[in-house]
Amino acid sequence: MGPRSADGIAADYAELLIGDLHASLASPVSESMNFLNEIALRYPEAVSLAAGRPYEGFFDLDDLPRHLSLYRRHLTERLGGDEESVRRTVLQYGRTKGVIHELVAEHLRLDEGITADPQDLVVTVGCQEALYLTLRALRRDERDVLLAVAPSYVGVHGAAGLVDMTLVPVRDAADGIDLDDLVARIRGVKAEGRNPRACYVIPDFANPSGTRMSLETRRRLLRIAAEEDLLLLEDNPYGLFGDPDGPPTLKALDTAARVVYLGSFAKTGLPGARVGYVLADQRVTDGDGRAGTLADQLAKVKSMLTVNTSPIAQAVIGGKLLAHGCSLRDANVREIATYRDNLTRMLAGLERRFGDVPGVSWNAPAGGFFLLLTVPFLAGDDLLERCASTYGVLWTPVHHFYADTRPRNVMRLSFSHLRPEEIETGLDRLARFVRDQQHN
Ligand SMILES: Cc1ncc(COP(=O)(O)O)c(C=O)c1O
Repeated sequence: MGPRSADGIAADYAELLIGDLHASLASPVSESMNFLNEIALRYPEAVSLAAGRPYEGFFDLDDLPRHLSLYRRHLTERLGGDEESVRRTVLQYGRTKGVIHELVAEHLRLDEGITADPQDLVVTVGCQEALYLTLRALRRDERDVLLAVAPSYVGVHGAAGLVDMTLVPVRDAADGIDLDDLVARIRGVKAEGRNPRACYVIPDFANPSGTRMSLETRRRLLRIAAEEDLLLLEDNPYGLFGDPDGPPTLKALDTAARVVYLGSFAKTGLPGARVGYVLADQRVTDGDGRAGTLADQLAKVKSMLTVNTSPIAQAVIGGKLLAHGCSLRDANVREIATYRDNLTRMLAGLERRFGDVPGVSWNAPAGGFFLLLTVPFLAGDDLLERCASTYGVLWTPVHHFYADTRPRNVMRLSFSHLRPEEIETGLDRLARFVRDQQHN
């Protein structure tokens, strides 16, 4: 054994400088997920108003064999009783674009009014992979930029960073996006000789703000996309958890293939299955007359990344879809009611505790998992740490959704995974913390 340094590590042990690794690894975004997970692990007794997870009380291991056998029966029928092919489909390496694409297309038709050719779907390892594939394909060189509402889901900052795509922030608004600012940003980017490839949006109950775009905003956004020759990346993990008579998705309104639709089964299916998808029906030509779709190109990227999404996980999700006639709205009746009750309880609880507290305000989303609480002090990671250790409650500092480390006076509160009494306890603790901060 060679000589050892003071900290006990062999002197010839390989050591890498983070500055010599990919630039995204040194950015604050890459720390965000780890920091937030790690703090929750360190304070297991704390009530978490931070985790954007589905309620675990509905998870049941016995659903897995049930859903697997439903999918198996479906496949056996589809394949004319050929058990060998059934076994191969579920257990062997498989189709890059996935095996439950027809069931996903049927879900989109039933629940979202989206007409999708199953061939234009790529079933992915969660929505996060769908985001990565899309950005990887769209980013040709350093001039290509992504626009996104600020604040936006941490994962879009992360995926953009991994493919070296600059993210240009667009101002938020009460119904999700400031369209005048969007146009100004697009023009600004073009004036600099750069290329705005797409704008990432979460029109339904956004993460972190909980906002939902009006029908008028959706229509204007589609018009702007057409006028400026821009794609829209519509991310929709939460749309089902709200009023069924709300406005249609952008993709349902899209008549010109402007929208790449990103889906996740983490909230409506099972997060542990890690299954999502992307609907990319844009035509791609090679100049020699051969044409395919963007989905075909995304499949090429996927074939070099995760090869294919586990068909076993797809079978579990496929079985859940089949159990409910492919309607996730039907599959989530209990979940939809629970999240709505939790949201009502949160809003009433905030009013009771903060209604007359100066400097404290919050928005009132109509669904989803999240809302934003504005407080009269800067709520950064250091205060979160203090709040967790001394007051026993966790929330998410909103700077994580701006991909920087500058604390702001806003926190994201989530309520999806808690029981009613946990929401009350969490809010009591939060109220004590906010009161003490004000008096410091
Ligand atoms: C807006 C948004 N998109 C995508 C995801 C990730 O989805 P998945 O778990 O399917 O990768 C999340 C998860 O929190 C999210 O909030």
